[in-house]
Formats: sequence, structure tokens, C-alpha cells
Amino acid sequence: MAPRCRVNVSAVFFLVVLQGAAVVLFCSWYVQLSPCDLPPPNSKVHVLLLSSWRSGSSFLGQVFSQHPSVFYLMEPGWHVWTNLQKPGARVLRMAVRDLVRSIFQCDFSVMDAYLPEDHNVSSLFMWSHSRALCSPPACPLTLRDQFSNQTQCAQKCDARGLQNVEEACTTYSHVVLKEVRFFELESLYPLLQDPNLDLRIIHLVRDPRAVMRSREESATAFERDNAIVLEQRSTRAPEVQFQVMQEICRSHVRINERAILKPPPFLKSRYKMVRYEDVVRNPLKEINAIYEFVSLKMTTQLEDWIYMVTHGKGKGSKKEAFQITSRNAADVSQAWRTMLPHNKVKRVQELCKGAMSLLGYRTVNSEKEQKRLDIDLLVPQEPYQFSWVPAKTQQQELKQETRRV
Ligand SMILES: *[C@@H]1O[C@H](CO)[C@@H](O)[C@H](O)[C@H]1NC(C)=O
Ligand SMILES: *[C@@H]1O[C@H](CO)[C@@H](O)[C@H](O)[C@H]1NC(C)=O
Repeated sequence: MAPRCRVNVSAVFFLVVLQGAAVVLFCSWYVQLSPCDLPPPNSKVHVLLLSSWRSGSSFLGQVFSQHPSVFYLMEPGWHVWTNLQKPGARVLRMAVRDLVRSIFQCDFSVMDAYLPEDHNVSSLFMWSHSRALCSPPACPLTLRDQFSNQTQCAQKCDARGLQNVEEACTTYSHVVLKEVRFFELESLYPLLQDPNLDLRIIHLVRDPRAVMRSREESATAFERDNAIVLEQRSTRAPEVQFQVMQEICRSHVRINERAILKPPPFLKSRYKMVRYEDVVRNPLKEINAIYEFVSLKMTTQLEDWIYMVTHGKGKGSKKEAFQITSRNAADVSQAWRTMLPHNKVKRVQELCKGAMSLLGYRTVNSEKEQKRLDIDLLVPQEPYQFSWVPAKTQQQELKQETRRV
């Protein structure tokens, strides 16, 4: 056996060397044929709307979804998080990352692992919120430059398998995915460096006190996700919301700091932090800036629609925890100030101190201050050129927070 084995090894070695030479030759020939300044063959723009629960990402997601150039999908990572028994966020993040990468490239075969065998378009989480899945070629219901209605879409646009979805995806210049399940940026580095992707990250944040109030309103919807965020560690019920809030705040600091303070070269100009409060106060200005960042054109139709959904009447109801409804968004974003008890406000401020000063949310020192809506708690921020110039106190607070992280 032994001598024959040796012959085989050297033969294999020879073949490997030969193949290596062939690859080198082929590559240099290929490089000569295609000058470096040509765009990669797949020249889509890929947008990751990176946010957290109850931070206005459904609304901003719709701002993308309703754009005629966008194929949008809401939280594909939900399928990963709901398919495994008692996992933690740390273990799942690479699976979510790889799922996101495949879907950016319109490869939905990755979903096989997470869907029932006989799946349909309706097996995709929140599928009818995606205008692209209600429009040709996925479905004849809504013309591409019209606004979709998720109720009607859910009734008329389901189909067997995901072939329609995949086909639709390939026809758009932009693929936008919303995710609330990333707590750091590092796992996304391979996507930022992938020559087949042109990734832009929109990091949507919101005042943690408003998030807390909104999460309490639909608390039961988050039980499973909370356990994953807290890595399944046992936590007394009243403490869960606070601890999850703390994790969310830490992730904001981690992500923003990574992107602004010491970004690796491939992250430069690919990250934009957006505060929900700025969007609801000045929707058109902020959304124009966001579109520009991801190379999308604003249309007058979209401007009208944005105005309508941010200035409508009515408060929305609890049943619509995952829907956006026509209401005055700027008022709703202040609701925590009258609804959240001051002791909870204080607790959130303590847990999220570093994040709040980093993102520009002022703390309140008394119940009176909390309820005086004329006191503005938002530190103004220059659009386009947000770069964090730390004041001394902010820097100290941040250091404390990162040390705890
Ligand atoms: C998909 O749709 C078919 C009918 O069109 C139905 O029989 C089947 O149960 C559906 N599958 C799932 C997973 O919903
Ligand atoms: C969507 O369609 C449903 C059913 O046809 C209708 O009741 C609802 O008002 C529509 N929603 C919007 C925002 O147009």
C-alpha cells in the first residue's frame, strides 16, 4: 500500500501545481479583459436597515418598500430566530448574516432550512408588507409605481414556492432588508468586503424611553425574542424589559462607535445613523437624505405619501403592533413623556446613559421636567455630516458604558 500511496501523493501534488498555474494565467487574462473601473456584474445596491424593536423601522421599511425601485423584505432573520430551540443571539448571528447575504443576491434557497416543506410566498414573515411581492412579476395586483395595500395583497398575491419571489428580486436595482437582530457590526464585515455586494447600512435608533413604553404596550409579542437577547439566562419577569433595553442600548453604542470612531476602511461612507425623532419631525428632509445615501430618487408621489402617513389623524391601536397607520408621528414619538411612569424613565436613563448621550437624547431630572413637553430633549444634529465630536462628559460616560459592555 505505502509505495502506491506515495506515487499518488506526488501525482496529486503535480496536478495541484498545474491547476494553480492555470488559475493564475486565466485570472491575469480575465483582468486584462475587464478593466478595474467596470462595476461588478451584479450592480444592485444592497441596503440593510439595521434597527431594534419598536424603533420606527416598520415605518422606515415602508418608505423603502413603496419605492418603485426597491425589493424589500422585513426581517428575514425572524425565520432563523424562531426555528431553533432556546438559542442565544450570539450563536444565531452568523446564520442571520449568511441568510441576509443570500437574500441580497436574490438566492432564496437558503429559506428551505427554515420553512415548511410545502412552502408558499405567504410562509415568509410579513410578506404582504413588501410592495414588491404585491407587484409584477410576483403578482399582478399593484403596479410598480403604485402604493400597495397589505390586506388586499395578502388576499390576492400568495403563490406556491418562492420562484416568484426570486424572479421579482432580480428585477430591482435595490434590495432592502430590515433586521432587528444584529447587535454588532463585526459579523457584517464579510458582506461589506464582498465584491458582489454594494452594502449600505442605515442604523435607525430611537429614544430608549420611547422604545420602553412602546415595548410595554405589546410586551407579550416579545417574550421569545427577549429570551434570545438575554441568552436564555433566567431573569425575574419585572427585570426582563429593563435588561433587554440595556442590551439594545449597549448595541447602539457598540455599532455607532465602531462605525464613527474607528471605522475600518471598507465601512467608510457605508454607514448612516438615523434618529427616528429627526425623521418624524422633518420627514421629507430626512428621507431625502436617506434616499440620497442609498442612491434612490425621490418622486412627488412618494413625497405626498410620506406627508400623509406622518401627518394623518388617529393614534393607532394595540392590535396594530406591527402596522404603521396614518397618525401624527411627531406627537406619537413624545407619548412616553406622559405615559411612562417617572421611576421607569429614571431606570431606563440609568441603564442607557452612555447610549443616550452618544445619540443625543437629553435626560430628565424630575417628573415635572418629563411632562413639560415644551422642553426639547433632542440634541440637534446636522444631517449628512453626523460625526460624533465627544464632549468631555460624554466621553467619560461612554467609557463607563463600554467598560461594562
Ligand atoms: C401552500 O398553498 C397550498 C394551496 O395553494 C396549500 O395547500 C398549502 O398547504 C400551502 N402551504 C403552506 C405551508 O401554507
Ligand atoms: C386596504 O384594503 C382594505 C380592504 O380592501 C381596506 O379596507 C383598507 O381601507 C385599505 N387600506 C388603505 C390604507 O387603503
